[in-house]
Amino acid sequence: TWTTAAFVEQSIREIRAKVGDKRVLLALSGGVDSSTLAFLLYKAIGDQLTCMFIDQGFMRKEEPERLVKLFQEQFHIPVEHVQARERFLNAIAGVTDPEEKRRRIGHEFISVFEEESKRLGPFDYLAQGTLYPDVIESADTNVDPKSGERVAVKIKSHHNVGGLPKDLRFKLVEPLRKLFKDEVRKVGRSIGLPEEIVQRQPFPGPGLAIRILGEVTAERLEILRDADLIVRQEINRQGMYNQFWQAFAVLLPIRSVGVMGDQRTYAYPIVLRFVSSEDGMTADWARVPYDFLETVSTRIVNEVRGVNRVVYDITSKPPGTIEWE
Ligand code: XMP
Repeated sequence: TWTTAAFVEQSIREIRAKVGDKRVLLALSGGVDSSTLAFLLYKAIGDQLTCMFIDQGFMRKEEPERLVKLFQEQFHIPVEHVQARERFLNAIAGVTDPEEKRRRIGHEFISVFEEESKRLGPFDYLAQGTLYPDVIESADTNVDPKSGERVAVKIKSHHNVGGLPKDLRFKLVEPLRKLFKDEVRKVGRSIGLPEEIVQRQPFPGPGLAIRILGEVTAERLEILRDADLIVRQEINRQGMYNQFWQAFAVLLPIRSVGVMGDQRTYAYPIVLRFVSSEDGMTADWARVPYDFLETVSTRIVNEVRGVNRVVYDITSKPPGTIEWE
C-alpha cells in the first residue's frame, strides 16, 4: 500500500542516487507541487539544491512574503528571492492585448530565469514538479535521444509561454512524476505544508496580470490585490474555499458612475468569478447565496479605493473561459 511516509523515503533515496554530488536548481512557484518538491530535494541533498523564487509582482497580497518566510523560518530551506516586480511591470507597460501580455510575461520570465541561473549556477539538474498526467501528455518529446534521460525544454509553471534556450536544457529531476494531484496534496500535508498551499486553487502563471483587463499598472494591481484579499477572506469565513474550483476577482479597465455619501464617484468595476469544475476544461458559474454576494460586494466597495461597483459573472465554460484573458 502507498503511504506518504514510504513515498518520501523512497524519493529521497532515488534523488540521492540520481543526483550524486551535482547541483540542482528549482523554481518555486508557491503552489503545492513546487513546494513539496523543494521539501523532498532539500531533505535529500541539502545545499546542493538552490531554490529560486522569481517574484514577478503578480501574486496575491502577501503571498510572496509568506512563501519565503515559510521556507526560511519553518522549513529552514534557503530561498533566493529574486525581486523582479519593476522589470515585469515595465515589460508589459502599455500592453492591452491579452496574448501579447502573456507572451511578454513569458519572455521576461525566461530572461530572468536565465540570468539568475547563470548567476547562481552552474547547475546540472533542474527539479520540476511534473505529475503523472503531465508525463503522459508530453509522451517522449522531452527525452534526450543520446542518454534517454528527460530534459527540460519548458518550465512547468509557465508551460504555455515559450521554451527554454538551448544552453539551459538541464537534465530533469522529477520525483513527483508518478503522482496524481491528490497524492501530492497528501504528501504536502504530511510534511507540514499549510492548507493554504495544499488546497490552493489553480492560479495562472501570469497571475493577476491577466485578471486586470487592458493595461496593467501598479495602481490597478494594488486595487485588484485588495479586492482579491476580501474575496478570499469572506470565502474562508464561510468555509467555502473548497467548494469552488476557483473563486477570484477581475478588474475591468473602464469606469462607471456611482454615489458614495453625497459624493459622485467615477471608478472601476470588479467582477467576481466563482466557478465549479472537475478539471478546468469545462466549468459552471457557482450558485452562491445572495447574502454572501452582498457581503463581498459591500466590503469591496467600502474598503477598496478606486472601486464603486461589483458584478457577478454568470457565464459558464464554454462559451466563457474561466479567466478573463
Ligand atoms: P481558462 O481561462 O482557459 O483556464 O478557462 C483554464 C484553467 O487554466 C488556468 N490557467 C492557467 N494556468 N498558466 C497556468 O498555469 C496560465 O497561463 C493559465 N491560464 C489559465 C486557469 O486559471 C484555469 O484553472
